[in-house]
Amino acid sequence: MHPNIISANFLTDNPAIYELRFPDPEHLAARFVDDLVHRFGTGRDLLDVGCGTGRDARYWTGQGYRVTGLDSSPQMVAHAETHCPAANFAVADMRTFRLPNTFDAITCLDSALLYCHTNDELDAFLRSCHAHLRPGGLLIAEQRNGAFFLGNTELLDEIREQTVVWQGVAYRSHTRLWIDHAGQLLRRERRWDWPGCAEPLRQHSAWRLLFPQELRHFASRHGFEVVAMFDEPGPRAETRWSETWRDRDAALSTRLSGDRLHLVLRRG
Ligand SMILES: C[S@@+](CC[C@H](N)C(=O)[O-])C[C@H]1O[C@@H](n2cnc3c(N)ncnc32)[C@H](O)[C@@H]1O
Repeated sequence: MHPNIISANFLTDNPAIYELRFPDPEHLAARFVDDLVHRFGTGRDLLDVGCGTGRDARYWTGQGYRVTGLDSSPQMVAHAETHCPAANFAVADMRTFRLPNTFDAITCLDSALLYCHTNDELDAFLRSCHAHLRPGGLLIAEQRNGAFFLGNTELLDEIREQTVVWQGVAYRSHTRLWIDHAGQLLRRERRWDWPGCAEPLRQHSAWRLLFPQELRHFASRHGFEVVAMFDEPGPRAETRWSETWRDRDAALSTRLSGDRLHLVLRRG
């Protein structure tokens, strides 16, 4: 095994490789959030749940936001603290977090919300968000759209191969996605190998498949008003936010058939 590679979760344990694998050089995700904050109106105290490498936090602090990030991965939090000293970070679980302060906005990006696999976990997350948002504050989530898989199978059962090169070593991944119908989960097996590795690293992840009606139900049950739910445009949607949202009044598509779902909830 390459000496720098820790194997519990290849990408979250190696934040530098995570950023290479999922580059966002134009800060689309962070700018998307900034745009929603302006469009729907809230203050600049922001909590980013599942903050990952802290690259979004770095952008927001540069725009005058006061940012706290939390993530369950100690490696991600250590990386974020090094690369974004202007923000605060904590190792915490999104289903149980308790912080001493409240916020104007909470973000949960790139499908982090979907790590709440069961209804109880989703309830716990929304309860915590409600407790940490000021009245009128926004919860902004961006994730895969469960409804996309009603009739679309192109992402499933095909093995996709990708390579990232880090410090001169080519790390190759083979990814397979399938649906666990009983669990209402999108499951993934990813196999990693690189020159000289003794045997491939096999890792499993899963994301809850959440549907628009279900999300509306969870939102109202936890005291949130749905102020926007749309599939396009978005930072990782087929129609990129950057192409259409140059002005802040661009239309939001509510067909909800795209592979990404964007949610803006306001705490009552
Ligand atoms: C797909 S990454 C998104 C990272 C970042 N938000 C971004 O958009 O670049 C998901 C992040 O959620 C974190 N995560 C997974 N389960 C979590 C949990 N139960 N509580 C907090 N963070 C979690 C992972 O460690 C990972 O950093």
